[in-house]
Amino acid sequence: MRTTVGIIGGGPAGLLLARLLHRAGIDCAVLESRTREYVEQRQRAGMLEQGTVDALREAGAAGRLDTEGLVHHGIELRFAGERHRIDFPALTGGRTVTIYAQTEIVKDLVALQLADGPPLLFEAEALAVEKPESERPVVRFRHEGRERTLACDWVVGCDGSHGIARESFPTETSRTYAHDYPYSWLGILADVPPSCDELIYARGERGFALHSMRSASVSRLYLQVPNGTDPGDWPDERIWDELAARFAIDADWTLDRGPITAKSVTPMRSHVHEPMRHGRLLLAGDAAHIVPPTGAKGLNLAVSDVRVLARALTELHRTGSARLLDSYSDSCLARVWQATRFSYDMTRMLHAQPNGDAFDHRMQLARLRRISASRHAAAELAANYSGLPLAL
Ligand code: FAD
Ligand code: DHB
Repeated sequence: MRTTVGIIGGGPAGLLLARLLHRAGIDCAVLESRTREYVEQRQRAGMLEQGTVDALREAGAAGRLDTEGLVHHGIELRFAGERHRIDFPALTGGRTVTIYAQTEIVKDLVALQLADGPPLLFEAEALAVEKPESERPVVRFRHEGRERTLACDWVVGCDGSHGIARESFPTETSRTYAHDYPYSWLGILADVPPSCDELIYARGERGFALHSMRSASVSRLYLQVPNGTDPGDWPDERIWDELAARFAIDADWTLDRGPITAKSVTPMRSHVHEPMRHGRLLLAGDAAHIVPPTGAKGLNLAVSDVRVLARALTELHRTGSARLLDSYSDSCLARVWQATRFSYDMTRMLHAQPNGDAFDHRMQLARLRRISASRHAAAELAANYSGLPLAL
C-alpha cells in the first residue's frame, strides 16, 4: 500500500486528522488495531472546548453534535459544605463548553470515513515505523493474518499512550517527562437524569467526586479511589452512598440514583514526550502526552494538535512551504505544558492526599476560597478550563 500521510490509530486524533486532510485534498490512510465496535464503545471523555467543537464543524463532522451536544455556561465547585459557581461567559468574554461523549465523536467520524474514504482499516496493528529520517518512511503492520507495509511521505502516530510510534524516536534526542499521582478515578455511567444542570467538582476529606452527564437521561460520575482499586469491590449501593456523601452541602440537595451500566478505574498520570517530531514521523494526542482527567484536557489537546498538524500539512501541500511543519512540535508543546500545568493544579487542589496531611488540606481550601472570592482568580480558572487559544 502507498499513501501520502499514513496515520496510526483510529481514535479521535487519527480520525479527525484523516477528515481534515481528506477535505484539503491530501491522500491518507488510517490503521486501527482494534475493531470498529471496540473503538465506538470505549467510554472516556465528554467535555469539549469551543475550539474542539469548531474543529469538528470544520471537518464536516458536527451534524449530531450541533443538535445533541449540551452547551454549558459554567461549572460548580463544592468544598467545606459550600457551593461556588464559575460563570464562563462572564469571566472569559463569552466562552462556553459543550458536553458530547467521545464515543459519539468517534461514531460520527467513523461513519463519515467509511462513507467516502480515505481508507480506514480496523484490526490493522502497526508493528513499527521504519526509516522515519528518510523521504519514504514505511509503516509495517499486521492485517488479516498477514504482515504488510504502508509506504508514506509522512507518518503520524495517533496511537495513544500505549502506541508504538514513539518507539521510533531516537533515545538520545527524545525525553519523556512523567508524574504519577497517588490516586485513580472510578468512573460510572448511570441511567438516571443528572442531578445538576452543570458539572460539579467536589472536594472533601473523603476525596474528590465529579458529577458529569451524557444526556438528559444519562449521568456520568467519578470518584477518587486508591490506586489498584478493583471495581468489583464497589457494588452499586456503595458507589451511590459515597457519591452522596462527597457531594453533600449545607443546603438542600439530593443526588438521584439509577441503574449503573458501566464501571471502570483509571489511574491518574502526567506524561509529555519531547519532541513531537522526528524526521517525517509526527506524534499527536495521547501518543505524545497524557494529563490526569481533572479539567478534561486530554481529548481537547489531541484535537488541538491535529488542527495545527492539518494546517501544516495543508500548507506544505498547497505552497510547498514546510514552515508550519517545522514549528509543529514547539507550537504544540507550548500548549501541552500549559494544559499539563492546569490539569496538575486542578488535580492537586481537588483530591485528598492519601495519608492526609493537615497542612495540604488547608492549602487546598485556601486555593478554593481565593477562586470563590477573587474575580481575577476565577477568570484564570475559566480561561484555562474553557480552552486557551490554539497559538500561545
Ligand atoms: P486514543 O483515544 O487512545 O486513540 C488511540 C488509538 O490508537 C486507539 O483506538 C488504539 O486502539 C489505536 N492504537 C494503539 N496502538 C496501535 C497500533 N500499534 N496500531 C494501530 N492502532 C493502534 N479528555 C477530555 O478532553 N475531556 C474529558 O472529559 C476527558 N475525560 C476522560 C475520562 C477518562 C476516564 C479517560 C480515561 C480519559 C479522559 N479524557 C478526557 C482523555 C481522552 O479520552 C484522551 O485524551 C483521548 O482519547 C485521546 O485521543 P487519541 O486519539 O490521541 O488517543
Ligand atoms: C468529564 C470528564 C472529566 O475528566 C471532566 O473534567 C469533565 C467531564 C466527562 O467524562 O464528562
